[in-house]
Amino acid sequence: MADQLLSTATHHHRLPENYVRPESQRPRLTQVITDASIPIIDLGSPDEAEIIAQIGQACQSYGFFQVVNHGIDTELMVKMMATCLEFFRLPPEEKAKLYSDDPSKKIRLSTSFNVKKELVHNWRDYLRLHCYPLEEYVPGWPSNPSSFKEVVSAYCKEVRQLGFRLLGAISQSLGLEEDHIERALGEQEQHMAINYYPKCPEPELTYGLPAHTDPNALTILLQDSDVAGLQVLRDSKWMAVDPKPTALVINIGDQLQALSNGRYNSVCHRAVVNSNKERMSVASFLCPCNNVIISPPKELVSEGAPATYRRYTYDEYYKKFWSRNLDDEHCLELFK
Ligand code: SIN
Ligand code: FE2
Repeated sequence: MADQLLSTATHHHRLPENYVRPESQRPRLTQVITDASIPIIDLGSPDEAEIIAQIGQACQSYGFFQVVNHGIDTELMVKMMATCLEFFRLPPEEKAKLYSDDPSKKIRLSTSFNVKKELVHNWRDYLRLHCYPLEEYVPGWPSNPSSFKEVVSAYCKEVRQLGFRLLGAISQSLGLEEDHIERALGEQEQHMAINYYPKCPEPELTYGLPAHTDPNALTILLQDSDVAGLQVLRDSKWMAVDPKPTALVINIGDQLQALSNGRYNSVCHRAVVNSNKERMSVASFLCPCNNVIISPPKELVSEGAPATYRRYTYDEYYKKFWSRNLDDEHCLELFK
């Protein structure tokens, strides 16, 4: 129901009960590590071999890295955030038209994660869009704000290019041909989740998004440049990702963990909320073609390192992922 949207509700003084996590599942914000950082990789460096080595290292140890000089215009990033914020500020009746809880819809505005399935909700609204091929989907996108279609589609095109460049580097870092992953994943879909986290009256009791791994291949995250919220699991501790205005955050999703036969990790992350400032993020997902079979190449399988996961199609995986709660155990465990 559209009236569940946090961005249309009146101001909350207390956290409503159906957002309160049981004691043992709370974020324990005071224990989060804030003085370390995920690697920052300069994609503008002329030393391509060094870039590939750094990406390989980051994928293996953190599953996450930030990129700078990535080729996406800072001005476009700023416009993208502003346009998306304008969207969430639209009047309730305008947003209600797009509301849906059905994860199979290709354009929908929703709240939390999977409202119908979960017991406790998350302090997040989101607009989820399919973005490839653009000609197919853009006509159905919001025409309010008036710049939405133009700005978001320009951003999507840039992100796709960057995504393929990164997949090429990741391929090479695994000792594979540059286009191996791109070929193995078929004609990839591209999805986007535009996340809006309002100010939260009791941020220590709930999440924007609870701990999860991403079901897709690769995620490219544009985030608010002055409000932190993303945290990454590292050696069993939560590490805050300090936002860096011109950077994008990249992470390995479940499909690259499977394809790399576990050499690279799809690492648990979460979004926490705060009481001072709303926060936004835009997650772009490259997703294997639905009918493609996910399995590691022969170069990454040996007697000593047999295939960890069974063969499956992305379609099968994606349906399984959305049939569960976001913070259930790692979905890949079910494909062993
Ligand atoms: C996500 O995990 O998809 C989004 C995290 C964030 O908002 O930073
Ligand atoms: Fe995520």
